Amino acid sequence: MPPDAPPRTSRALSGIQPTGRFHWGNYFGAIRQYIDLQPGAHQAADEAYYFIADLHALTTVRDPARLRSLVHAAAVDLLALGLDPERAVLFVQSDVPEVAELTWLLMTVTPMGLLERCHAYKDKKNRGLPADAGLFTYPVLMAADILAYDATIVPVGEDQVQHIEVCRDLAGTFNHLYGDVFTLPNPRLVEGGAKVPGTDGQKMSKSYENTIEVFEDPAAQKKKIMRITTDSRPMEQPKDPEGDHLFELFALMAPEGDRLRMADLYRRGGFGYGEVKKALVEAAAAYFADARGRRAELEADPGRVEAILAAGAARARARAGDVLARARRACGLSRGEAATGKGRRP
Ligand code: ADP
Ligand code: TRP
Repeated sequence: MPPDAPPRTSRALSGIQPTGRFHWGNYFGAIRQYIDLQPGAHQAADEAYYFIADLHALTTVRDPARLRSLVHAAAVDLLALGLDPERAVLFVQSDVPEVAELTWLLMTVTPMGLLERCHAYKDKKNRGLPADAGLFTYPVLMAADILAYDATIVPVGEDQVQHIEVCRDLAGTFNHLYGDVFTLPNPRLVEGGAKVPGTDGQKMSKSYENTIEVFEDPAAQKKKIMRITTDSRPMEQPKDPEGDHLFELFALMAPEGDRLRMADLYRRGGFGYGEVKKALVEAAAAYFADARGRRAELEADPGRVEAILAAGAARARARAGDVLARARRACGLSRGEAATGKGRRP
């Protein structure tokens, strides 16, 4: 089968870095889509693999206790938000050491120039900050993450599309050199390319310190919502809800009817932003109420979460082991099988 031919099985895969607790941007921009791609859900793939990218996080989180706790919290959050271990494989990246070996194989076909153009590294360099080889080679590790599971669909935000291109490039080069080893993946962008705004109106991101965390303590969350920046136009002036970041956040969480009423209120004018903020506090509480309940149950049972991760890692390793064996045979690392064509995909 040529690498770009329609695959027999659609397999979604994505990773999320445990560099902080998940915020609304992560949920509406990424996690919600993971859940929609689980088998049985409305946009389902045949299989879904999701992992907590702790090897990637090592380039930023240098405190071991914090990293451990963030990885556990990420697992609990993902499960609470609806990731179902019966339908998707949930695991921790570093529990699959095959990926690290695959990274090396890919590194040998990676042109330096390709990595020099990648934005994570380029941005840091342009800001005059020191970059380590981990950050420089980050797209190669990400390519191995994807290729190790024969993933066909990679749900990501806009910022990660470049890395999927790199992955396709490396897979294509490897296949060209050694035969049909890797499946070429396609990115799946969040519908509408949603960019969730932060409390200051810029894109919500940990790096801008403008995030509202999904499972933040309700009192702290309320404080942050009440401090969302707004403009100083007079109350009576009609306003356009489109492009207003406070309205955008409300629209993400409010039921349809409330959203239409709020849009109307904006257009008519005569309201205060304080009212909108209060409505947002309530909408967020209602929207995530079930998830908070599930989170509390999971928190009370850390053994269950660890068992889910262990089962996920076992399934992920089995697949990654097959792919790695295929790649090793294809490039000549397994003696005695070179001429048999066993390096090729079945
Ligand atoms: P951060 O910018 O806070 O460090 P990450 O880069 O770890 O967040 O993002 C993890 C995932 O969440 C990515 O798929 C990214 O595209 C998505 N994401 C993060 N922030 C937003 C946002 N404000 N709007 C939409 N998607 C987002
Ligand atoms: N680099 C991604 C991010 O920062 C996380 C990630 C690592 C990933 N490996 C991946 C995403 C493989 C998709 C597929 O958001």
